[in-house]
Amino acid sequence: MCGIICYTGKKKVIPILMDGLKRLEYRGYDSAGLAVVENGKTFMVKSKGKVSSLEAKLSDSSSEATFGIAHTRWATHGKPSEINAHPQFGCNNKVSVVHNGIIENYLEIKEELIEKGHEFTSDTDTEVIAHLIEQNFNGDLERAVLKSIEKLDGAFGIAAIHSDVDHKIVVVKRGSPIIIGIGENEYFAASDSTALAPYTNQMIYLSDDEMAVLNSTEYYIKNLSNEVLKKKVEFVDSDIYTNDKKGFEHFMLKEIFEQPETIENAFRGRIIESEGVSKLGGLEPVIDRLKNMKKLIIISCGTSYYSGLIGRYIFEELTELNVETEVASEFRYRKLKLDKNVAVLAISQSGETADTLAALKEAKRKGALLLGIVNGVGTSIPQLTDAGVYNHAGPEIGVASTKIYTSQLVILTLIALLIGRYQGMSFTEGKEIINAIKKLPDQIREILSNAKMIKEIALKYSVYNDFLYIGRLFNFPTAMEGALKLKEISYIHAEGYAAGEMKHGPISLIDENFPTVAIATDDLVLEKILSNMEEIKARDGKILAITNEGEKKVKKIADDIIAVPRTLPLLQPILNVIPLQLFAYYIADEKGCNIDKPRNLAKSVTVE
Ligand code: M6R
Repeated sequence: MCGIICYTGKKKVIPILMDGLKRLEYRGYDSAGLAVVENGKTFMVKSKGKVSSLEAKLSDSSSEATFGIAHTRWATHGKPSEINAHPQFGCNNKVSVVHNGIIENYLEIKEELIEKGHEFTSDTDTEVIAHLIEQNFNGDLERAVLKSIEKLDGAFGIAAIHSDVDHKIVVVKRGSPIIIGIGENEYFAASDSTALAPYTNQMIYLSDDEMAVLNSTEYYIKNLSNEVLKKKVEFVDSDIYTNDKKGFEHFMLKEIFEQPETIENAFRGRIIESEGVSKLGGLEPVIDRLKNMKKLIIISCGTSYYSGLIGRYIFEELTELNVETEVASEFRYRKLKLDKNVAVLAISQSGETADTLAALKEAKRKGALLLGIVNGVGTSIPQLTDAGVYNHAGPEIGVASTKIYTSQLVILTLIALLIGRYQGMSFTEGKEIINAIKKLPDQIREILSNAKMIKEIALKYSVYNDFLYIGRLFNFPTAMEGALKLKEISYIHAEGYAAGEMKHGPISLIDENFPTVAIATDDLVLEKILSNMEEIKARDGKILAITNEGEKKVKKIADDIIAVPRTLPLLQPILNVIPLQLFAYYIADEKGCNIDKPRNLAKSVTVE
């Protein structure tokens, strides 16, 4: 989704902005632009399409400018075009603004400004911000921005500059991330710390309704009542931000292959073997509330929703909790009765997903305990929650989530283990779960060593236009996640179903051109899945089964199998999804798709 990068200092700004834009590309975008100021004049260049087209337009530029703002846009209001790309500007071309998020009341503001004589050129909501600042400007940019913000409804991260105000950048956060980077006599602002990583490891994460004012010698942060705030400077490990494919053809493939390490990072230092329990520092402040909690609601979107669905089965298995999992975009509008006896757990890779954030805010208003499982350190969700656990999996650049999904599943198990041990789970059971978790990295390595065989199977199936994925219990969400991986990166139609639902509709789709991927590993419902597979075979449907090594009955029915090692049924989805990720990847690669940046998708969905 949209990305912001800004710089003020002594270095030439255009190369810094361009580098930042490239680092933000993975978020998904359709146009890009920048505005810099030199000798009191604004120089603005915008382009539809790739950052490389913007770069081409700048190839003749000899600008020596040392401050400016830049943006990658993912269209919400107005088609992707050069005119609608950011920066947006006012009538006199002096104010330039970049914006992430949505201004909900932009039409009424636009009408008011048109009455005052402002002329608009774009279809964007962002343009009203530039005109408002222009309207309120009397030499003091900071004041003009503050006054303009008062008028805006919606979620936004904004950066503004004015050609009459040398080297000053004013940024504001409300609902869309803004991070300040601190250098030596130079300051940065960005919507994502990945863009700042090569320049500084000192960062400040703005909270909602905070404004930062940067110039080449100092910075300060204020709230919107104009009071200066003292904010903690975070020291971020910049090594984990390397945007390097490390020899892999795509980030997605690299991230799939990183899973033995990211799983290990998820549990390292977080288990006490001698006591058969987990230890999660981030949850310690709320552990007394948690152990007596009666109800847990897990909220999340997309792949994180599917890990939350598996989480429901895990918590039901290991704890006494009453658990629900809900898509955050639905949860936020339901009339739920929440109170302090309900814990709401948000799961999010980015920590910035607008629906998940809004759902959490709703839960907070109703007094629930807010928890998070988040990969993005210091992002908006962990700022809002009472307690939580980080994935520590490094950035996930491929739009299709892979390594964070499996890491989320490990963390969900660790949380359930922690609560379960307070609620009657035996030491032996706790120890058994820990032993199984510790084996996962090597088991994943074993699956990854079969990548060549999985590729051959994927190529064989790449000729089909439709796929059904089926699974039951712990692996019903695995089926949905497998289908999501395939559709989002290869654009092939795929549906994930609870296998028990086959006879209630989807079986009518089955024929020799509509293959099924059946998740048929060893658990309580394996026999049931086998019956579903027989029904598919009886209708000439082809079956690719994910099963355990040595599972003879599945082998007899399926056309093709991919075998994975055995683990506890509640951990089996972690292993089962790896071949499904590879299967989707190799099909998409065969079709020549843009795997790391699939069409229409964004890595971080910061608008509703
Ligand atoms: O950052 P989040 O985990 O909150 O993101 C949620 C979804 O947008 C995300 O999982 C999306 O579905 C991915 N494209 C899945 O691969």
